[in-house]
Amino acid sequence: MKILIGITGASGIGYAMDLLTALDEIDDIETYLILSDSATHVLKAETDADLDDLIDLTDHVYNNDDFNQNVCSGSALFDAMVIIPCTMSTLAKLSNGIADNVITRAGAVTLKERRKFIIVPRETPLSTIHLKNMYELSITGAIIVPAMPGFYNRPEDISDLQRFMTGRVLDLLGLRNEVSPRWDG
Ligand SMILES: Cc1cc2nc3c(=O)[nH]c(=O)nc-3n(C[C@H](O)[C@H](O)[C@H](O)COP(=O)(O)O)c2cc1C
Repeated sequence: MKILIGITGASGIGYAMDLLTALDEIDDIETYLILSDSATHVLKAETDADLDDLIDLTDHVYNNDDFNQNVCSGSALFDAMVIIPCTMSTLAKLSNGIADNVITRAGAVTLKERRKFIIVPRETPLSTIHLKNMYELSITGAIIVPAMPGFYNRPEDISDLQRFMTGRVLDLLGLRNEVSPRWDG
């Protein structure tokens, strides 16, 4: 399975790192990473990790500014795309068909080719514009998975919260996983 992972400059880059870590541990998954400029700032602000740590967790990395890459064409076959975390800016571009970097172009391709598209937006509170953009993307086929971890499993630390989101995204990708406990009453 070939999975494109877009990381944009929203708070919560730890969600992306945790997902990449989990995908790295699953056989027969190839991950293709695209990182926005703002995501590199958030990486510095929120973690002690650097770019190489992210790159080490992936199989391939794309340059977000270079449209001369296969991922910009629908002819390149990917099984799914995940944008985690997704900024309101990238969300707005996607819902309006603006493809001015490789993440938004790959997202537009994912939508037009009707491939699995998981978007993990992060902002609070949400304006009506944000909500409208999510609605538009949802009816176009994307799955909106807000960065809203549940607390019913009694998380003990941030990593438990991240794992919760990772588990939900893996489920949606169709990957059986045990990374986060399931609620069973
Ligand atoms: C530390 C930091 C945290 C941010 N958090 C958010 C956020 O949670 N949600 C959001 O929509 N934008 C957030 N932003 C603003 C975006 O990074 C900014 O709008 C940027 O232009 C988005 O570009 P991108 O979508 O290409 O990454 C944050 C910026 C910084 C520096």
